[in-house]
Amino acid sequence: MGILVLICLVSLFAPVKNVEAETNPFLIDCGTNSSTNVDGRKWVGDLAPDSNLTLSSPGIAASTSTFNGDSTYGTLYKTARLFNEAANYTFKVDSGNCYLRLHFYPFSFENHDVNVSQFDVMANSLKLLSEFSVPVEISRKNSYMQSLGSNSSESSLMKEYFLGVDSGQLVVKFMPTGGSFAFVNAIEVIPVTSQLFVDTVSKVGGNGATSDLNLGARGIETMYRLNVGGSEIEPTQDQDLWRMWETDISYMFASVAGSSINNQSNVTYSSANDSSVAPLLVYETARAMINNEVLEKRFNMSWKFNVDPNFDYIVRLHFCELVFDKPNQRTFRIYINNRTAAENFDVFVRAGGMNKAYHKDYFDLVSPQIDTLWIQLGPETMYGAAGTDALLNGLEIFKLSRSGNLAYVSERFGSSGTEVSARTFRNRILWIGIAAGIASIFILAALFTIFFCLRKRRKNACPTKENPPGWRPLSLHGTVGKSTTNARGSKFSVGSLNLNGSLALVRVGKRFTIAEIRAATKNFDESLVIGVGGFGKVYKGEIEDGTLAAIKRAHPQSEQGLTEFETEIEMLSKLRHRHLVSMIGFCEENNEMILVYEYMANGTLRNHLFGSELPPLTWKQRLEICIGAARGLHYLHTGAERGIIHRDVKTTNILLDENFVAKVADFGLSKTGPALDHTHVSTAVKGSFGYLDPEYFRRQKLTEKSDVYSFGVVLFEAVCARPVINPSLPKDQINLAEWALRWQRQRSLDAITDRCLEGNYCSDSLKKFGEIAEKCLADEGKNRPTMGEVLWHLEYVLQLHEAWLRSNAGEESSSLVAENVEVGDTEVSQNPSVSQDEEHCIELRTEDDGEPLTRQISGLGGTVGFDEFSQLVNPQGR
Ligand SMILES: *[C@@H]1O[C@H](CO)[C@@H](O)[C@H](O)[C@H]1NC(C)=O
Repeated sequence: MGILVLICLVSLFAPVKNVEAETNPFLIDCGTNSSTNVDGRKWVGDLAPDSNLTLSSPGIAASTSTFNGDSTYGTLYKTARLFNEAANYTFKVDSGNCYLRLHFYPFSFENHDVNVSQFDVMANSLKLLSEFSVPVEISRKNSYMQSLGSNSSESSLMKEYFLGVDSGQLVVKFMPTGGSFAFVNAIEVIPVTSQLFVDTVSKVGGNGATSDLNLGARGIETMYRLNVGGSEIEPTQDQDLWRMWETDISYMFASVAGSSINNQSNVTYSSANDSSVAPLLVYETARAMINNEVLEKRFNMSWKFNVDPNFDYIVRLHFCELVFDKPNQRTFRIYINNRTAAENFDVFVRAGGMNKAYHKDYFDLVSPQIDTLWIQLGPETMYGAAGTDALLNGLEIFKLSRSGNLAYVSERFGSSGTEVSARTFRNRILWIGIAAGIASIFILAALFTIFFCLRKRRKNACPTKENPPGWRPLSLHGTVGKSTTNARGSKFSVGSLNLNGSLALVRVGKRFTIAEIRAATKNFDESLVIGVGGFGKVYKGEIEDGTLAAIKRAHPQSEQGLTEFETEIEMLSKLRHRHLVSMIGFCEENNEMILVYEYMANGTLRNHLFGSELPPLTWKQRLEICIGAARGLHYLHTGAERGIIHRDVKTTNILLDENFVAKVADFGLSKTGPALDHTHVSTAVKGSFGYLDPEYFRRQKLTEKSDVYSFGVVLFEAVCARPVINPSLPKDQINLAEWALRWQRQRSLDAITDRCLEGNYCSDSLKKFGEIAEKCLADEGKNRPTMGEVLWHLEYVLQLHEAWLRSNAGEESSSLVAENVEVGDTEVSQNPSVSQDEEHCIELRTEDDGEPLTRQISGLGGTVGFDEFSQLVNPQGR
């Protein structure tokens, strides 16, 4: 029996931490009798003579040699203690609080298969874990992180609890369930002598009311602990309490909404009592609302977390005003799960100055149906757009026990919110494996068939434009058999599962050799570069048969690029349309990522609108181009099997061929919708400022109506011929969408119309055109027209203008009235995606009825966020 060396000088929830307590933590390396030095601390074997703990049963000391990761705790992970029967670790601690951390690293030992291990854990009378499976939990967590767009993949798991102990001892009990075994790799018991929690906490939505939480009698589990806007803080950097602070970026919805700021100087605690609440490092970095004057700050900075339903939570927000040295510079609102937690929040005022570390707790109940917690900081609605901003430095989410229970039996795993228990999950992995196997056999068979048929066809058929020589189906690009296990070399393998991946994609297009590409681009001759972007360079080239091509070559070893490269190939393989830029082929030899597109002789629409020496486009040309682009987008939204959201509609992504036929380009950001996990909709918002749908930010919602919004901006750009964002203009003119909309609402769009058009357009057509653009920019997606409707109305505008041109040319003026507008001439009927049906049910309005068009197509959901992708031609577009 160990000697009691632990002395807690300050008792539970004592108000002041003023004495450096001589409290010794227990740092226990389980499954060994030797001690080891890890993270600057000495970890004692659980059977070592100086461990100072009692172990009720020796269990089995297990060890593994397979751990080869670089985790700080790697050494601890090499051993574990296994229990076939219930067993206790007893730690003598003084009354007070402590952190209990349980470290798990699953490995199988002899005949103990870690995948069947399942157990309960109690701490004194509090249940911490129930029917707990470490591998399932790790895999659930990794899938969750991957669904947030993070590529981290952990092989270990740490659970942290904050407990009150009044009996002089902490008994941690491991109980195998379902005839299996329990295990643990390391245990930390860290006495906490300072006051980390207070009992009275503001209630969310309670209008200033507080809740008495009686935390001393309840247990707390740490769910999340983030250093917002900064980098990871390792336990060694949080000296007294050895907490781990993650980065926040993966949890952020629309990471473009917040930019990180930092200030390493002179940060101090606003209250001396707070010195253990968080290390100062947390306060030295923050995230503030994006510093973009031109974007009206009508959005929130939002973070989204998976939580266990039916528990109480404390959300702790850490703040420190790093920029402003007076009050009223930054006041904002705090929302937790859509309810207001605080209004008029001014960090400077609350903390008592600049560079003062301050935190605030909020209490919220999460009902049984809810498994997410949204934390949002946004503008104070009382104030105008100017001066609003928000700030957050750190964030913690704590789960509180209900009736002596902190355990949550995981019932919420599933790719689309379906409820699957841990056991079903294991079965499911098995089934997915089998299904994937079968699917790959089928796909292979299908590929063989296609390959065979095409070969046969090539023999007899002359090459046509649709079926040029050398085209063949290519590699099978899927995620079959891609393992979720991690790079750290964990031994356990949960199975081959990729929740968001489709099983396989077939790519179509010519596969070029690198030699062919070099020949086409004169060995990537700089004089042939027609565009440069984040992704790489675009060359003009001539491929074998003399066809001109735009050859986009990605920077090698760009991970992000690879995803978008694959997306674009996949998209372009599926999509063929007169108004979409088509892909001729690609090259992936030598790790190259090269896409070969049809060459668009007249470059981007933007180039023809402003900023170049090119002759201005006529109103008719602009209308035809807008119609073409609308047609392409309409096809994307409705023509393919599933709706595709382009996500980056702008004038640099509308290209013009030698006949000024518009084609939509750049599918690197697009993604098909409804088959994807819903959570993907709300991960990262990417796109181009000036064109971004404000609803992205507000409602965490992405639909094809977001493309409609961007297209509305394109329409204004086409008529005003100026950049969508021009910071050199007076503030109210910087953002084209806001500025043009103001003029349009006063029905005076003609006042800001491109001077080059003067006298050469039919004013009725401009009027109607403005109305369409205005409707596209409706604040809410549901009030925006569909692309089909936009297309239809643009056709009408063109006809108005053409009639006007004819009458100006002295021809017999055609009396064009709304009722008998002829839409659907050859152009339309060529395009199967605009059905006659659709046209008939759209009511044509010629009057200023100002009513939104409300016909909607079925809602198609989400998309995955990818980072920037270059423009095909113009590098400066974004
Ligand atoms: C911020 O989020 C809250 C809660 O979800 C919402 O009510 C509010 O309208 C949002 N504010 C903005 C400006 O989007």
